[in-house]
Amino acid sequence: TTPGAAKTPVNVTVTGAAGQIGYALLFRIASGAMLGPDTPVRLRLLEIPQGVKAAEGTAMELADCAFPLLAGIDIHDDPRAGFDGANVALLVGARPRGPGMERADLLEANGGIFKPQGEAINAVAADDVKVLVVGNPANTNALIAASNAPDVPKDRFTAMTRLDHNRALSQLSARADVPVSAIRRVTIWGNHSASQYPDIFHADVAGRPGAELAADESWLLEDFVPTVAKRGAAIIAARGASSAASAASGAIDHVRDWVLGTPAGDWTSAGIWSDGSYGVPEGLVSSFPVTSAGDGWQIVQGLEHGELSRARIDASVAELVEERDAVRALGLI
Ligand code: NAD
Ligand code: LMR
Repeated sequence: TTPGAAKTPVNVTVTGAAGQIGYALLFRIASGAMLGPDTPVRLRLLEIPQGVKAAEGTAMELADCAFPLLAGIDIHDDPRAGFDGANVALLVGARPRGPGMERADLLEANGGIFKPQGEAINAVAADDVKVLVVGNPANTNALIAASNAPDVPKDRFTAMTRLDHNRALSQLSARADVPVSAIRRVTIWGNHSASQYPDIFHADVAGRPGAELAADESWLLEDFVPTVAKRGAAIIAARGASSAASAASGAIDHVRDWVLGTPAGDWTSAGIWSDGSYGVPEGLVSSFPVTSAGDGWQIVQGLEHGELSRARIDASVAELVEERDAVRALGLI
């Protein structure tokens, strides 16, 4: 029998569908990598008018893959149509950072996109909608979208720091010479920006405490932390374009773990609406250590921080406060 034939398709809206992340993302969603091998999906591609033709080309290729789980594709340039009935919304469409640009430069350019999209999600998405913002500055764009969707619970709006999390796993794996699958409990704190703090103090690295590796402070602060935090810029410098396949992979991981659950004994990282945990002001979208049992993200509680970690978390959160104040001044929230 066709896998999932009996299940109702899940509506997945992808904005920026004609962009480079969209191209890496849509095929994996349609193959079942995001929602599992027995869940059919209906893809709804949202683009700006100039992107519609290219999105039609991508839709032709999706059709040509004959994915058994792909129940339909439609293409829109109006957010009210694009988010209609959306169960999962991946907000990718935004302007990527070019060489030499800082993410803060993008606040104004991209903020305007996420206000109308938040309003549209509020008006037409499904009651169980789950939103992942990938487009930068992701945390603050998620804040803008959430703030403009008053009827949708705030915990449904999330920002992607899973790529940073995966980058941290990869760097740690190389350093400790163990497979990534042997590493657990790494955390990205704060903003998806160069100020983020990848924290290994509570990690389990193939049975070895992460704190033991972190004790080499010059490696930690001069190598590990900046390599992870500035990886996006390094990719842009090397590729001449921002990360795409790895970003798509992070998005797949984020939604999969949100919907299907995180592995026992481990946690992941996600930008979520702060409830005040760990001294992060309520109402900022900040990255935390999180678990899900398939019913929503829970912040891992009770982790203790030394001075080094505390100062770095505080610095990244201070940047989120600045971004929030900037978009507030622009009337976006
Ligand atoms: P891209 O320029 O290749 O594609 C963006 C697409 O979005 C374009 O096709 C454009 O037409 C479309 N778009 C623009 N405004 C839109 C709107 N209002 N509605 C719908 N579509 C719209 O960019 P990309 O490389 O795919 O990157 C997309 C975003 O993801 C960028 O902001 C980038 O910085 C960000 N990003 C985030 C992470 C992360 O870890 N959070 C990682 C990589 C990239
Ligand atoms: C990344 O982390 O790769 C993206 O956010 C792109 C960027 O601007 O760094």
